[in-house]
Amino acid sequence: MSITLRMMWIFLYTLCLTACPTSAENTGIAQNMEPSPNTTMDGDSKALIVYLSRTKNTEALAKMVQEKVGGELVALELQRPYPKNYQAIVSQVDQENEDGYLPPLKTQITDIGQYDIIFVGYPTWDMQLPPPIKSFLNQYKVDLNGKIIVPFNNNAGYGMGQSLAQFSQYCKDCQIMQSIELRGGIERDGVLFVMEGERASQAKTEITQWLQNLSTSSPVIQQLLQKQSAN
Ligand SMILES: Cc1cc2nc3c(=O)[nH]c(=O)nc-3n(C[C@H](O)[C@H](O)[C@H](O)COP(=O)(O)O)c2cc1C
Repeated sequence: MSITLRMMWIFLYTLCLTACPTSAENTGIAQNMEPSPNTTMDGDSKALIVYLSRTKNTEALAKMVQEKVGGELVALELQRPYPKNYQAIVSQVDQENEDGYLPPLKTQITDIGQYDIIFVGYPTWDMQLPPPIKSFLNQYKVDLNGKIIVPFNNNAGYGMGQSLAQFSQYCKDCQIMQSIELRGGIERDGVLFVMEGERASQAKTEITQWLQNLSTSSPVIQQLLQKQSAN
């Protein structure tokens, strides 16, 4: 390599080191899982598992996650519950998303700051985060600063839509880990609770594998898995 070419290469390399965004910055998904300043690394990390579930599929997944990592399980409920009718809830959620309305939560979490890691389970609604999950992220945004957030999702087969990107919008300084996405019910077609029998065993296997993968880059998850399996 000529001296001029070599100098140009060094210049471009240095420029990129300081100016090029990493893929983690682009997606908001944390890659380097350094413990957050609040994280307890004395073998006593605390996990919170928050979830929203209407037809109980996410609830079943949340319980599977809890079986593996321990911690507190909290179902999010609204002050004014959604209508039972599917078309009515779809219209209401559409409108709430359009207006940017965050429905007030009935569920209140005391001292959320005590948790090192927060698992957030949700179904895809309107190809987004359901409004109650947005309410949760917004209500606790100060306390969630610097925390590790682990999303897990199920949906009717249309994917997670914009939901992952929305986590980073509501939770700018969180470390957002790689989510798992599972196939749930299809309420539109009358398929409600499906997480039982073979489907549940399959989901359990996938969740175990997902947590194992996450633990390779997260000392906190590694610690929780080890502690729970020793119990
Ligand atoms: C208001 C509403 C909107 C939904 N929107 C979507 C969607 O955009 N994409 C999708 O794949 N599934 C959608 N679903 C289906 C749910 O994600 C699916 O039924 C999921 O398994 C429900 O989880 P749960 O049993 O924990 O409530 C929607 C369901 C509801 C009630």
